[in-house]
Amino acid sequence: MSNIKITGTGSGLPETILTNDDLSKMVDTSDEWITTRTGIKERRIADEKTATSDLCLAAAKNALKSAGLDPKELDLIAVATCTPDYQFPSTACILQNALGAQKAAAFDLSAACTGFIYAATMANSLLQNGNYKNALVLGADLLSKFTDWKDRTTCVLFGDGAGAMVLEKTNDTRGTGPQILASDLGADGTQIEILKIPGGGSRHPFSQTGFKTDPPFIQMDGKEVYRHAVTRMGETALAALKKAGKKPEDLNLFIPHQANIRIIETLAKRLKIPKEKVFLNIHKFGNMSAATTIIGLDEAARSGRLKSGDLVELVAFGAGLTWGALLIQW
Ligand code: ACO
Repeated sequence: MSNIKITGTGSGLPETILTNDDLSKMVDTSDEWITTRTGIKERRIADEKTATSDLCLAAAKNALKSAGLDPKELDLIAVATCTPDYQFPSTACILQNALGAQKAAAFDLSAACTGFIYAATMANSLLQNGNYKNALVLGADLLSKFTDWKDRTTCVLFGDGAGAMVLEKTNDTRGTGPQILASDLGADGTQIEILKIPGGGSRHPFSQTGFKTDPPFIQMDGKEVYRHAVTRMGETALAALKKAGKKPEDLNLFIPHQANIRIIETLAKRLKIPKEKVFLNIHKFGNMSAATTIIGLDEAARSGRLKSGDLVELVAFGAGLTWGALLIQW
């Protein structure tokens, strides 16, 4: 049992809703195709003026409020994102300034859709081993800014969002209160080609290509990604459970990455987790990359779906490839 507790969660979402019908006016697609192939009905899209740190700020304020923690007291800010405001400075530093959290160390972490699981694992370890008393951990992505809105095979899949979690070291060693019980992380760099944003980095900088050959847009081999997603998420979910001496049937709630309803259903079936224990928000938000699982946890907590002592598992998968699971006792 850990004395590091989850004392708050929060979300930050853009107001603008883009429906499948809206998309069918932009590309050759239909509500029927998107719904049956993915489970997505609508998603939130940030406006031109909104960047990742803006949604982070909203999520952070909500999480800090629920924790009752003054940003001035923050020791650490970690932002998991693959869509930062700038190459540098980090989105975490921009957020630190916006929050007035002058005391906090701040850094970004890149693990695509699995980013939040990586960042929460890292922050929890830093609190256990380091001289930090608390941490604000975010998963945030605005993939709409890196989407080719003429490509129907990718533009229907993603939405924007940010989610935040506050972790605090407490004097409570009785084992009560929301806490991370175990985590599992993995990666397979042999699969970099199946999901990437080719342009805009040091491999294909704008100065050399002008994005003529390597645009800064998502490219994906959907079928391959699908195949790996089911296998890897299943393995990592079981690995995190095993580390805590638990089994899938012990779970009260399962919050998988929301990339495709068919991936989620296949995964739940393989793990023998009944439908009513599987959290879904894909229909209203699509795939929000690193923000997905933490927004799911925040929604579950705020709606009263989580009760004290419940066992909940977040599982994600993304570009890299990366994957990971976070087992939480609420
Ligand atoms: N509307 C209508 N038709 C479409 C659309 C669309 N939006 N997109 C593709 N099609 C067409 C294709 O062109 C193809 O037509 P064809 O048969 O004439 O060639 C047909 O539909 C079938 O296409 P598939 O790619 O075979 O469709 P599939 O059933 O595999 O579904 C999908 C595609 C939804 C992308 C699926 O493969 C998937 O979900 N993959 C995983 C995606 C994922 O998990 N991504 C994670 C990203 S995480 C991160 O790190 C960012």
